[in-house]
Amino acid sequence: MGTYLITGIGRGIGQELARVLLLRGDRVIGTVRDPDGASAEWDGFIKNGQLKLLSLDVRDGGSIKEAAKRLDEPLHVLINNAGIIGPDRQSTLDMDFDGFLDTLNVNTLGPLRTVQAFLPHLRRARAAKIVTISSRMGSISYAKSDRIAYRASKSAVNKVMQGLATDLREDGIIAISVHPGWVRTDMGGSGADVSVQDSADGIIKLIDGITPGNSGGFFDWQGKPVSF
Ligand SMILES: NC(=O)c1ccc[n+]([C@@H]2O[C@H](COP(=O)([O-])OP(=O)(O)OC[C@H]3O[C@@H](n4cnc5c(N)ncnc54)[C@H](OP(=O)(O)O)[C@@H]3O)[C@@H](O)[C@H]2O)c1
Repeated sequence: MGTYLITGIGRGIGQELARVLLLRGDRVIGTVRDPDGASAEWDGFIKNGQLKLLSLDVRDGGSIKEAAKRLDEPLHVLINNAGIIGPDRQSTLDMDFDGFLDTLNVNTLGPLRTVQAFLPHLRRARAAKIVTISSRMGSISYAKSDRIAYRASKSAVNKVMQGLATDLREDGIIAISVHPGWVRTDMGGSGADVSVQDSADGIIKLIDGITPGNSGGFFDWQGKPVSF
C-alpha cells in the first residue's frame, strides 16, 4: 500500500485515478479547489481515513504551501493531474496572451510548485515517484499547431520534469511525464477514444512498474515511450 497525492480529483482523469487507487486499498491525498463541492462518493473513504482532501489552486503557491503544512506523512507518489486546455483564442496568429500566461501558470508552473512544496514528503518515502499528466500535444516532434498555448505548456512541463529527474536522481526520486490518451472527460469531450477507466488503469499500471531507469522519460497510458 502506498500514499498517492493527486491534484484535481473533482472530475475527469484525476477523479478516476483516485477511485481506482482507493478501491485497491491505497491511501489518497486528493486536492480540490472547492472542498464544499467534493463528491459524496468520497465520504466513506474520508471516514475510514483512507482519503484526505486538501484544498489548493495550483496557480497559488501560498495555497499549495498551506496544504503541504497540513500533511505530515511520507508520500510515495505525486500525480500532477490538474490542468486546463487554455483560452478560446490560442493560435500563433491570434493569441489571447493573458490566457496563454494562465495556461502556463496552471499546466507548467503548477506542477513544479506542487513538487517543490511536497518534496519533503517525497523525500520521506523510499524511491518516491513524481508523475505529471502531460499530453502528446506537447511533443516538439509533432508539428500540428492548433491550441498552441496548451501544446507549449505541455512541452514546457515535460522539460521541467526531465530537469527534476536529473536533479532528484541522487535522492532516488523518479520523475516522468505521461500522455493519458485522448480521454472522454470535460476536457477531452464525448468524442474522445479512451474511457477514463482505461486511461486510469493504464496510468496506474505504468506507475507501478516504473524504475529509476525510466526517470526523465515520457510515456503514454499504455506504457509506450512518447517522443519529446
Ligand atoms: N482528456 C484528455 O483527452 C487529455 C489528453 C491529454 C492530456 N490531458 C491532461 O490530463 C489532465 C486531466 O485532464 P481531464 O481531461 O481530466 O480534465 P478535466 O476533466 O477538465 O479536469 C481538470 C481537473 O483539473 C483541475 N484544475 C484545473 N485548474 C486547476 C487549478 N488552477 N488548480 C487546481 N486544480 C485545477 C480541475 O478542478 P476543478 O474541478 O476545480 O476545475 C479538474 O479536477 C490534464 O493535465 C490534461 O491536460 C487530458
